[in-house]
Amino acid sequence: MTHLPTEFPDFGLTPEQRRHAVRGHYYEWPGMDGERGEIWCYSDRFSYRPGETVTLHVSSTAPSFGMTIIRDGGTETKVFEKSGIAARWQDSPDQCSAEGCGWEASFEFRVDGDWPSGAYRVTLTASGRDGKPIQCHHLFIVSPQAGKKPGRVLQVAATGTWLAYNTWGGSNHYQGITGPDRNQYSPIVSTQRPWCRGFVVLPRDAPRVPLEVAVPPKTVPRYPHMEWALATGHSKKYASSGWASYDSHFFRFAERAGYAVDLASQHDLHFSPDILDGYDCAVFVGHDEYWTWEMRDAVDNYVERGGHATRFAGNFMWQTRLEDEGRRQVCYKYRARAEDPAYRGGDVTRATNSWEAPEIGRPGSATFGLNATRGLYAGWGGCAPRGVRGFPVYRPEHWAFAGTGIYYGDLLGADSHVYGYEVDGLDFEIRGGLPYPTAHSGAPDGLQVLAVGMASQVEESADIPIEDQFLTDEDGRFSAETLFGEGSDANLEKVKRGNGMIVNFPRGKGEVFHAGSCEWVAGLLRQDPMVERVTKNVLDRYLGKP
Ligand SMILES: [Fe+2]
Repeated sequence: MTHLPTEFPDFGLTPEQRRHAVRGHYYEWPGMDGERGEIWCYSDRFSYRPGETVTLHVSSTAPSFGMTIIRDGGTETKVFEKSGIAARWQDSPDQCSAEGCGWEASFEFRVDGDWPSGAYRVTLTASGRDGKPIQCHHLFIVSPQAGKKPGRVLQVAATGTWLAYNTWGGSNHYQGITGPDRNQYSPIVSTQRPWCRGFVVLPRDAPRVPLEVAVPPKTVPRYPHMEWALATGHSKKYASSGWASYDSHFFRFAERAGYAVDLASQHDLHFSPDILDGYDCAVFVGHDEYWTWEMRDAVDNYVERGGHATRFAGNFMWQTRLEDEGRRQVCYKYRARAEDPAYRGGDVTRATNSWEAPEIGRPGSATFGLNATRGLYAGWGGCAPRGVRGFPVYRPEHWAFAGTGIYYGDLLGADSHVYGYEVDGLDFEIRGGLPYPTAHSGAPDGLQVLAVGMASQVEESADIPIEDQFLTDEDGRFSAETLFGEGSDANLEKVKRGNGMIVNFPRGKGEVFHAGSCEWVAGLLRQDPMVERVTKNVLDRYLGKP
């Protein structure tokens, strides 16, 4: 077992700065680097098929820039390089996070027919006004070509969640400069803006959300990831979402392990559900919180027809809607019942609320077996900071654990800390030492619970003053109200104790395997042999490998 330090890491911030790192609202905006100057970039879409044209929109204080494009997979391959591309500064509307930046096109290139499907990292470099280099990073996805699907894995990147957490321009689905007092999160976010700093590339030692600290009793929580973000000029949400923190770790692992992997965006899934056709296995990883009705239809139909859906991800929470050909994502979240037009004459089943809101009638468990509001937080703040770190295993004889040497009661992935920081669960009971979903849990028929850990929806507060709480009981009260009509103490009591599970169930001619934790990818990043083995067991079985 790894020996953990008992002190939080320190990134040289003052107590006031540490407070601002967690409580404050800081974000990327055009002009933020002042005299030095800046360069920013976005593309017209998240993903392209081979042969299609990528349009880059660039705003730069320098009159020209150089650009490299690298395919970011099991190995890094440079596919494009060009210098001396003309640029100019382009103004952005105040509410660009919601409306889009509206910059004119700066540069176009065609996705070459021999660029394999995957993630392509764009680096733009120019000269700052002080003569030192200025830089920005962007990412686009090359979606699969037609044909050649059997034996291949299709990974679907959690682009809905990337968009929800993107801090660029000041507003996202969490915090913002939206509303009359410029202090509200925005229920609408645009794809037409750059990614925030830390979504595309990160240093390997950037802190993850779950604490790597043996927290002494009565410790006031600290948040190393947000302190590091403020100290190093990264997005406050770099550790909550994005290619660099999450999706990349599965993709690189799978390629290095010899799997043939294609990559698509959730937007592809929404607009072209047939993108799943012919694949033996579709994979969803990381922090995967925002889905549309149409994306779920695509997965449900795929599995019914014999597909295998694998989710190594957590927090299946919100329904979104896409507008303007996918350029706008809508999610009213906590304000849905008050503000979402779906509640006022629209189709209420498409309300951008929790999937478990009874009026929507489509809990997440109907697709992936688990629900977000029965899970939630583990391993940070006052939510199980001394919790299990790995999945407690109850059914070690299951095929997914073959060859791992894991026993009943062991923790899977504790050393690499795969359990957290948001997990998905089900109401369950223990009989004869084994977990079973309860009759009203929403579990699909035939669902087996392989592992269960504890989680919390409410920050424990006995030793933590309210001004030092980041999570508080806000999410718990919201779940209580959404599920039971009122956020009362009695209803909070029904939802506050959550769990995170690994489950497996058949559906139609297909099957679903789900390890419901955002941090599964940490086991792949940290090369935890047991986590790698389970991941391979699932892929091999679904790809029909002997
Ligand atoms: Fe989340």
